Amino acid sequence: MNMKSMGFLGGGRITRILLQGLKQKNALPDHVWVSDPNEEMKKKVQAIDPAVIKCTSNNADVLNVNVLFLSVHPPVMKDVAAEISGKIRTDTIVVSLAPVISMEKLSVMLGGIDKLVRMIPNAPSIIHRGYNPVAYSGDIGTDEKRQLKLILDCWGEAPEVNESKLEAYAIVTAMGSTYFWPQWVKLQALGKEFGLSDSELNKGMAAMLAGSVELMYHSDLSAEEVMDLIPLYPLKEKQVEITEFYESALRPLYQKLKGIT
Ligand SMILES: NC(=O)c1ccc[n+]([C@@H]2O[C@H](COP(=O)([O-])OP(=O)(O)OC[C@H]3O[C@@H](n4cnc5c(N)ncnc54)[C@H](OP(=O)(O)O)[C@@H]3O)[C@@H](O)[C@H]2O)c1
Repeated sequence: MNMKSMGFLGGGRITRILLQGLKQKNALPDHVWVSDPNEEMKKKVQAIDPAVIKCTSNNADVLNVNVLFLSVHPPVMKDVAAEISGKIRTDTIVVSLAPVISMEKLSVMLGGIDKLVRMIPNAPSIIHRGYNPVAYSGDIGTDEKRQLKLILDCWGEAPEVNESKLEAYAIVTAMGSTYFWPQWVKLQALGKEFGLSDSELNKGMAAMLAGSVELMYHSDLSAEEVMDLIPLYPLKEKQVEITEFYESALRPLYQKLKGIT
């Protein structure tokens, strides 16, 4: 791989997810720099591979790399961009992991950087089962794309999509797990109270969820036909409330990410 060095501005959760995913695949590049103001975050990220990952509080220390990931939240991006503007190598590929800020805006914020990529990763990337839609600027050449794909493939699928769809993917594929995980945990806790062991629950829950996904998304049945296979929905009355939460929370969030409100 030509991309022998990587930098991360921001050493929080998504940086750890991506670096852990690469470590597990034995695909960490020779040099990884991570900057973060938070000592606890730096300790956690360095522990992934202390021989390869170097942490710093100074964003300028991570810029001399082949691929630079912008791993900070959108409100912080303006300050970070102002700090590093004009200091990024012209051959460095900059990958923003943040929603909201378009490549066009980012290029201006960074002082005219053209080799830009945006990706909306998700947490299963840590076990190579991520679904990470990606949009490339026109200045990323075929060979650079191929080199970058070698890295992205370590995290799972990285479908190339139109940049305008990234915020929708942020709501659906990046944050989607958070809508369901707390319900799984509650169901599992109840299952334990009802007499099932941890191993019975782990096996049963995983099989039920995998089977439900297969049936809903990979069978010939429509969503209505799938849901009609079970006559009794014990949570039916609450279901209206739950789906209403999706409307009232996710629609405004999408509009905020798109700058509509
Ligand atoms: N986690 C995910 O699954 C996921 C998925 C898709 C996209 N993303 C995107 O990835 C970005 C980071 O998310 P995250 O989940 O990693 O958040 P996070 O866990 O909160 O990490 C962000 C890190 O950036 C640090 N930071 C703040 N100001 C900084 C600065 N000026 N320079 C360098 N680092 C700075 C923060 O330090 P402090 O805590 O001290 O402020 C924090 O450690 C966001 O744009 C998010 O939307 C995340």
